[in-house]
Amino acid sequence: MLMDPEQVTKVNFQASKLGIGTNKVGGHNLFDGLDDHNGYEVIKEALDSGIQMIDTAYMYGLGRSEQIIGEAIKGYPRENFKIATKAAQDPDNHLSLNNDPAFLKKAVDDALRRLQTDYIDIFYIHFPDERTPKDEAVAALNELKNTGKIRAIGVSNFNLLQIKEANKNGQVDYVEDHYNLVHRDVEKTIWPYLKENHIQFVPYFPLASGLLTGKYTAQDTTQFSEWSTESFEVIINNLKKIKPISEKHQATIAQTVVAWYIANPEISAVIPGARLPEQVANNVAALKVTLSPQEYQTIDQLFGQF
Ligand SMILES: NC(=O)c1ccc[n+]([C@@H]2O[C@H](COP(=O)([O-])OP(=O)(O)OC[C@H]3O[C@@H](n4cnc5c(N)ncnc54)[C@H](OP(=O)(O)O)[C@@H]3O)[C@@H](O)[C@H]2O)c1
Repeated sequence: MLMDPEQVTKVNFQASKLGIGTNKVGGHNLFDGLDDHNGYEVIKEALDSGIQMIDTAYMYGLGRSEQIIGEAIKGYPRENFKIATKAAQDPDNHLSLNNDPAFLKKAVDDALRRLQTDYIDIFYIHFPDERTPKDEAVAALNELKNTGKIRAIGVSNFNLLQIKEANKNGQVDYVEDHYNLVHRDVEKTIWPYLKENHIQFVPYFPLASGLLTGKYTAQDTTQFSEWSTESFEVIINNLKKIKPISEKHQATIAQTVVAWYIANPEISAVIPGARLPEQVANNVAALKVTLSPQEYQTIDQLFGQF
C-alpha cells in the first residue's frame, strides 16, 4: 500500500515507549542455544501485552529474526505496532558494511519480503561504511519514505560527525545507539545535536545485556569482561541501592530500570531484549511503575559516574 508522503512525517509518527529487542529472536549467529519457537513466542507475548514496537535487523540470524517476526505478527492488526529493522552488512560480500544507495534499497525490499509486510516503520542504516557519503545513503532512504515502503529513516552506531553528515538535509528521524545507566557517553556526545534537530533517540542494551536486571552478583565477572572488578562491584552495589525504590513500587530491579528510561524525556522508545516470553511479561510490568521525580534523580545520581 502506497502512503501519501504528507502522512508520514515525523510529526505525526507516534511510537509506544516500550518496545521489544529481538537479537535473541533467531539471532543464532550472535548467541548460542537460541530456540526459534521461544523467539516466536517472545514476539507473540510482546504483541499480546500491548507492546507496539519491534526492533530487529538483518544481522539477527541473517534474516532469520525478520522471518520469525513475519510469521508471529500474522493475525495482529498491522497498524497496532511498529517494526524497526536495520541493514548494512552485505550478504554478497562477507557481511562487509555497505551503505550504498542501491544496496540499501535492495535491503529494504528483502526485509519487507521476510517480514511479510507492506511497510517498515523505521529503517536504520545499521552501521556506517567507510566510503558512502552519508547524506547520499539517507537520500536513497528518503526516496523509499516517499513511496511509503519505509515510514522513518534511522541511523545506528553513527558518531556525531556521521550523524551530521547523514542529516545534512534534515532527513534523519531516528538514531539508535548504545546507552544505558552504566554507559552514558551519548548524553554529552550526541544528545544535544539530536534535541536541537528533533531527532528521536532509541537506546540499545538498555539492560546492559542483563546486568541491570539485578540477576548477577559481584562474582559473575566472566561474562562482563568490559568491566574492571572495582567498577563491576560498584554497579552491583548500586543496583542493591535501587532496591528500596523497587520494593516501594512492588517491582523488580529490571522493571525499575526500564521505568527510569521510560521516564527520561530524551528517550523515544525502550527496547529491552528477551530470550524468553516470561522475560517480556516481566519487562512489560515496568509500564506500571511511575517513578517520582526524586526517585528518578536518585537513580540518575547513583549511576552518574558512568
Ligand atoms: N543498533 C545496534 O547496533 C544494536 C546493538 C545491540 C542491540 N540492539 C537492539 O537492542 C535490543 C536490546 O539490546 P540487547 O537485547 O542486546 O540487550 P539488553 O536489552 O540490555 O538485555 C537483554 C537481555 O537481558 C536478559 N533479560 C531481559 N529481560 C530480563 C528479565 N526480565 N529478567 C532477567 N533477564 C532478562 C535476556 O538475556 P539472558 O536471558 O540471556 O540473560 C535478554 O536477552 C536488541 O535486542 C536489539 O534489538 C541494537
